[in-house]
Amino acid sequence: MIFKLQTSNLILQTSSADSLFHIPDNSVDTIVTDPPYYSTIQYAELSDFFYVWMKRTLGDIFPDLFWSELTDKDREAVANPSRFRNMGASPEELAKQDYEAKMQLVFSEYYRVLRDDGVMTVQFNHKESGAWDVLTKSLIDAGFEITASWSVSTENPQNLHQAKKNSVSSTVLLVCRKRDPLAEQAWWDDLRPEVANLVEQRAPEFEENEITGIDLYLSAFGPALNVFSRAYPILDSSGEPVRPEVAFAEARKAIANYRFRKLVQTDTAGFDPLTQWYLLAWDAFKAREFPFDEARQLALAIGGFNVNDLAKEYKLLDSASGTCKLLTPKQRHKKRAFNTCADNFSNLYLVDALHAIIAIYQEEQNPQLVRNFLQKTGLNNNDMLMKTLEIAFKVIPKSAEEHKTLTSLWLSMDEIKAKVVYEQMRFEV
Ligand SMILES: C[S@@+](CC[C@H](N)C(=O)[O-])C[C@H]1O[C@@H](n2cnc3c(N)ncnc32)[C@H](O)[C@@H]1O
Repeated sequence: MIFKLQTSNLILQTSSADSLFHIPDNSVDTIVTDPPYYSTIQYAELSDFFYVWMKRTLGDIFPDLFWSELTDKDREAVANPSRFRNMGASPEELAKQDYEAKMQLVFSEYYRVLRDDGVMTVQFNHKESGAWDVLTKSLIDAGFEITASWSVSTENPQNLHQAKKNSVSSTVLLVCRKRDPLAEQAWWDDLRPEVANLVEQRAPEFEENEITGIDLYLSAFGPALNVFSRAYPILDSSGEPVRPEVAFAEARKAIANYRFRKLVQTDTAGFDPLTQWYLLAWDAFKAREFPFDEARQLALAIGGFNVNDLAKEYKLLDSASGTCKLLTPKQRHKKRAFNTCADNFSNLYLVDALHAIIAIYQEEQNPQLVRNFLQKTGLNNNDMLMKTLEIAFKVIPKSAEEHKTLTSLWLSMDEIKAKVVYEQMRFEV
């Protein structure tokens, strides 16, 4: 719904946001918009339930609002793959193109009606960065620059639904202005360091405002867009235009570095990339299950191993229909991801050592077996493994079986207690 405000009285007008025919060019001071978050909610389909009843009761009073049989799905700006079945191409891809085209029409209309010195805020969030890429590309292509961004914590973290699933609990407000029409093109390679610096600079401020986990990664897209939307177009070294997702990848890398440095607290050198990925995945998603694409993006941010090998070779996760699940040490052991016999244990990845001691302890609840394994493999003197345990305590949720086993181990093995700082859970009475 589009509102038109006049000084002495308030006029409410409705129209599809892609056609503000009743509003002249350059006439609006401020636009505040909260567009659909890609595919999250199918508003029109849900509205039909109410629409048919409202039409019966209000149809005679507001005939202009209720002339159609059902709500207008064709102009609705959502990504809805079910509308593109059997069309010869991937329904998801067609839905994405449709959303991008519609949002670009909407933002072009906003650009037309906004005064040259006007300001617009766009509220958005989605846990998948692909949705961000599509929305912000439309915004930038329409001529806007993102001059500031604010992340607001919007969901109660105690909410059970939120705690069990990896869901997004913040919203980002993008402050946009018309980009200088004389802005020139820029090279992505020149902007890349600026994106990383700005993201790392803003990260502590986001955390102070209780923006953590995946929300921290998503909030970093705001500062990345500040830099990215200033010039137009942005080109890569072969002269091809670059999409916002490239800036988001850089922002994600900056946050991954920042978080890992913060978790380790000392030098991060020596941690293998697989272990970094595992610890950062728990830190970001705070759940065993999350979208596979986010797992992939995080792996790309860390680098150093092939993303497809996370499931196939390292057996750290199982993936199916777009989501993936971190495997437990027991499941990984069963799939022979590592060997719990000290003589055959391959000491390449700290995450395997972590999982091996958890799996050994879970088998018989006997700390002596863990002690033997640590001594025979020489891992008892490996400070990096002790640091990995310390980080695992911080990032793996207390409800996960890995955390519970680590707590029992810590309580029953003085040699671990001596080296691993663990703030035990406070029991509320
Ligand atoms: C994220 S919701 C906004 C909710 C709103 N801020 C509120 O608190 O009620 C997005 C809204 O955009 C509407 N919408 C979708 N396509 C539209 C279009 N072409 N023109 C105007 N509104 C549209 C949806 O129906 C939905 O109500």
